Parts: sequence; structure tokens; C-alpha cells
Amino acid sequence: MVVTQAEDNKFSRQITERNIDELPDGDVLVRVKYSSLNYKDVLSATGNRGVTKKYPHTPGIDAAGVVEESQNDKFKVGEEVIVTSYDLGMNTSGGFGQYIRVPSDWVVTKPDNLSLRESMIYGTAGFTAALSVYRLVDFGVTPSQGQILVSGATGGVGGIAVSILSKVGYEVVAVNGKKDQTDYLLEIGANDVISIEDATDKSDKPLLKALWAGGIDAVGGDMLATTIKSIKHGGGVTCCGNVGSHDLPLNVYPFILRGVTLMGIDSQNCPMPTRTKVWQKIASDWKIDRLEPITTEVALEELSDRIELILQRKHRGRTIVKLPD
Ligand SMILES: NC(=O)c1ccc[n+]([C@@H]2O[C@H](COP(=O)([O-])OP(=O)(O)OC[C@H]3O[C@@H](n4cnc5c(N)ncnc54)[C@H](OP(=O)(O)O)[C@@H]3O)[C@@H](O)[C@H]2O)c1
Repeated sequence: MVVTQAEDNKFSRQITERNIDELPDGDVLVRVKYSSLNYKDVLSATGNRGVTKKYPHTPGIDAAGVVEESQNDKFKVGEEVIVTSYDLGMNTSGGFGQYIRVPSDWVVTKPDNLSLRESMIYGTAGFTAALSVYRLVDFGVTPSQGQILVSGATGGVGGIAVSILSKVGYEVVAVNGKKDQTDYLLEIGANDVISIEDATDKSDKPLLKALWAGGIDAVGGDMLATTIKSIKHGGGVTCCGNVGSHDLPLNVYPFILRGVTLMGIDSQNCPMPTRTKVWQKIASDWKIDRLEPITTEVALEELSDRIELILQRKHRGRTIVKLPD
């Protein structure tokens, strides 16, 4: 397993062997087959105490694998399961190890039409993208109302949001923060691509030209504020991330003059009935036809390089981790 160590507040990562007995309490022991790399894992793996308080620690907020032991009748030995969210990989030993032990309340039975590997291509990022689409659809934004703007689109949440929206018939405009990724964004389902500069207004105007029926944002800051100011009357925007900034420089006019709704997305504490419903959508009518262009598969040994790419803003799509058999 990958262990992040802290010494004199300097953090390093090693692959080490640990005993299953060292895992925390829980009524389900899972042999992890695949995990995935999310922005939060980067924070945990590089010593962000807002995510992980105690080190040494094994990150990995996502895990898909096979039940090895279960004290709960709901889960049988040999069953394929997905564990994401809650405290996994934050202060509970996570998916960058061959085993996790977790409370059964955190465990989702893997839908039939999704392999363990595919479930980790989605992972927390893909689940969050699907939850964002679920909220937009539930709110009443329909494809006939106009285009949906997606930020952070070369990343995990944004990229999968682009692909799901396209699959269900929305016209999608993706924000491209990396100049050379237009072809990639068109390939994964965007109808049009705009630059980060065009998607970020610095004029301080309270309202901008109404362009979008809805938005899915993973960036925050000026980008989210610009999106909200550019939503058509009665539209909605989901907000899940802060890679750009945790600020939201905005006034009330989009809300009181255009009736715009801002929807917060918290995948970590998403109630189990909604969680199960969203995983079922991911595995059925929202299942992306071509997952491979989004995916890079690595071994534990290659994870540090992928973490570096995210830190340097050179990462694209989803990195999944194959655990050794
Ligand atoms: N609330 C929740 O439940 C939840 C769940 C999952 C993730 N999240 C959050 O969602 C965000 C995205 O997660 P992720 O896993 O998709 O991360 P990711 O794969 O690293 O993707 C983030 C993307 O955002 C863009 N970006 C990075 N830095 C930026 C900056 N300074 N300004 C503007 N754009 C920037 C990049 O795309 P471009 O270079 O193309 O712009 C990057 O590909 C994170 O903040 C994460 O913590 C929240």
C-alpha cells in the first residue's frame, strides 16, 4: 500500500507492507481491485491536514473490490462492491492499499452492468458529475432550454459531466483551461469549447449576457461567478469544487432578477437512497459509451507521477489504480 509519512512536517510517500490487523474497525473487509485518483487524494497524499489529520496514512477515497469478510448479512463474501465517500481515504485507511475495512453503511453493491474497473473510472469524480447532472435534471433544466456550460472539463468531474450530459442529449460547452485539449473535449462529448479567459469575466458587472440554460462547476471563484451571471432566466448551476478558488465574488442580481438557482453538491454525505439511484443511472442509461479516452490505468508505483501531473495542472481525465492481485 501507499503510505504518506510526515517527518518534521515534510511529507513523503512510500509503498510498504502493513498488516490487515492495522486497519480500522468496520464490519466489512474488502479486497481492493481498483482505486482511482481524485483531487482530494492529492491533498491527502501531500499532507493537507484539512483532509487528513494523522500520518502515516494510506490515501484513496475510492475503492472497488470483493468482500473478503462481512459481519453484515447485506454483504456476502465474494460479492463485488464499491466504496467511495464518507471518511474513506481521509482519516480511514483508503483504496491505495490492497484491503480496506469499513462500516457496511459505506458500501454500495456494484450494479450489474458496470465492471469493478469501470466503476473506478467514474469513482468519486464521476459519481459527483452524475450527481450534478441528477440535480440539474431534477431541478428541471431540459435539453430544449439551451446549452450547459461545464468548467474544469479536462479534469475528472468536468470531463465525466461533459460525457454524461452529451449522452442524455444536452448540448454541452466545455471550458478548456489547457490550450491543447480542444480535440479531446470534442471527442468526449462537448459540442463547443471555450477558453478559460472567455469563461471568466473580470468586469465586475452584476449580470452578463444570458447564454446558458445551466452549468456544472468544479472550479469556483471568478469562473463560477461568471457562469452564474450568464445563466438564462430560471436556470440552475451546480457547484462542487474549488480548484480555482473557494471565493464566490458575486452579488444577488442573478438570483433576484433572473431567478437563477445555485445547487450545492456534496457527494461525501449523499444519502444512500440517492447514492444507489445515481450509481444505477451511471450503469444504465447514463453509461458513457467510450470511457477509454478519459482513462489512464496505473500501478501503485506510478501514482506519485500522476499526483505531480495534477499539481502541475497537466493531468487529464481519470487515473485509475490497479492494485496487485
Ligand atoms: N463536492 C463534492 O462532493 C466533490 C466531489 C469530487 C470532487 N470535488 C471537487 O471538485 C474539484 C474537481 O475535482 P476533480 O477530481 O475533477 O479534479 P481534477 O481531475 O484535478 O480536475 C480539475 C480541473 O479543474 C481545472 N483547474 C485546475 N486548476 C484550476 C484553476 N486554478 N483555475 C481554473 N481551473 C482549474 C483543470 O482543468 P482545465 O485546466 O482544463 O481548466 C483541471 O483539469 C475539486 O475541487 C474537488 O475537490 C468535490
